[in-house]
Amino acid sequence: MGCKLNYTLPRRQALGSCFYSPRLQLVGVLTWFWPVDTAGAAKIAASQHNHWCSVPYGEVLEVDSGRVDNPPMSTSSHSPSRIVLGVTGGIAAYKAAELVRRLRARHAEVQVVMTEAACQFVTPLTFQALSGRAVRTSLWDAASEAAMGHIELARWADQVLIAPASADILARLASGRADDLLTTLCLATKAPVSVAPAMNHQMWAHPATQSNVNVLRARGVRVLGPASGDQACGEDGPGRMWEALDLAAALFPAVAAGPLTGKKVVISAGPTREPLDPVRFISNRSSGKMGFAVAAAARDAGAEVTLIAGPVTLCTPPGIQRVNVETAEQMYRAVHEAVVGAHVYIGAAAVADYQPAACAHQKMKKTSEHLELHLQRAPDILSSVAALEQPPFTVGFAAETNDVERYARDKLTRKRLDMIAANEVGVDRAFDRDDNALLVLWAGGRRELALQSKDQLAREFIAVVGERYQLTRHPVVTLVPQAS
Ligand code: CTP
Repeated sequence: MGCKLNYTLPRRQALGSCFYSPRLQLVGVLTWFWPVDTAGAAKIAASQHNHWCSVPYGEVLEVDSGRVDNPPMSTSSHSPSRIVLGVTGGIAAYKAAELVRRLRARHAEVQVVMTEAACQFVTPLTFQALSGRAVRTSLWDAASEAAMGHIELARWADQVLIAPASADILARLASGRADDLLTTLCLATKAPVSVAPAMNHQMWAHPATQSNVNVLRARGVRVLGPASGDQACGEDGPGRMWEALDLAAALFPAVAAGPLTGKKVVISAGPTREPLDPVRFISNRSSGKMGFAVAAAARDAGAEVTLIAGPVTLCTPPGIQRVNVETAEQMYRAVHEAVVGAHVYIGAAAVADYQPAACAHQKMKKTSEHLELHLQRAPDILSSVAALEQPPFTVGFAAETNDVERYARDKLTRKRLDMIAANEVGVDRAFDRDDNALLVLWAGGRRELALQSKDQLAREFIAVVGERYQLTRHPVVTLVPQAS
């Protein structure tokens, strides 16, 4: 069973047979190849999230324990995906052993790089046995430095995943440190970097950690998790590392089983801004995080995703087409253009219900004690999509402060939707947070999705959308023979 990759591997070139390291005053013989075409390498970096693997979810690979056949960098032109797995110090390091097996089950070559702290939790021998490669632990490893150490690994990797990612590594990555092999190769690589945070929930919630995570996200680092639940320290909350199976699936979305495979999905996200004059607008507190997470989850479920985004500061998830808009009118037009031929529309945007009847051409001056604004209804995008002659499977969101289920069910029927995801909003709830919970409703059914990180929640939500889409748009008809 081979790995189906939908990109062209970059041109590879033998580096010649002789190598001289002025630093180590060493001449060596190299027998491996690596990409020399930087455009090709960049193409790989850009297409990481389009790796589709035919290995079924959950398949287990038997590993030749103890086989170590470095140097690992020699690859054929049909090389499987190459993952540098960074393991940092934390109790979740033991879960990384399972992760190596899951990645290898997807035919990935896995090179483990451990920090000094990680070696206090799990021995390099464990990872060596599971990965079939000698584990790298030091920037100053003379043998690997002969092969350029961190640079060699940085070039070799198709993807870098750090799991578990401790608060310390997040801080060091955010500040651009290069004080060990893992941080140095992260600086040197063009490959996409993902981190799976794992730490005590207070450490995760600390503003320093959150600010580091935001810095990393803004630089395009993919943050996978954390999940909520019981922690090794005996406390409860967000900080658990994602399970190995989920991390492997995030790196290698399995196309074969995805209910949205090949489906065109349009998602609107973020707030809208309705201008009052050239410098003022009416808007709301939506951060767009939930909609962006839903877009990434739909992409991972095999969909071709168009994301219509209001004004937010979030990076576009790789592999997704993004259209930026500002007002409800602009979002209306962009959505209607995008839904032509679409299979699913998910309205996750917090669209203004009212817009100023007129926008002043010049800055309004404060000439009186009171100001009355004349507002008019903004177009209801969701209802208008659901009312199309051949509507896509249409999903709405309902943000409510009270009577969540009652109001959401009312919107479901009033807007003639296939499904609605309701959540409670208010102070410290849903808006501009990294976690959320949803109540998903459809005619005659409901599903509660527990409070968890928006990334994980989005994956569960998309699974329900896929399931309902398949049931309602492609129902399995069972023919029952009539009794004669
Ligand atoms: N929505 C939309 N266009 C609007 C307003 C809302 O497409 N002008 C969509 C949102 O994207 C969301 C759903 O409608 O998917 C619910 O929005 P919400 O504002 O919560 O509901 P309303 O129908 O506006 O009802 P109310 O304000 O009375 O709660």
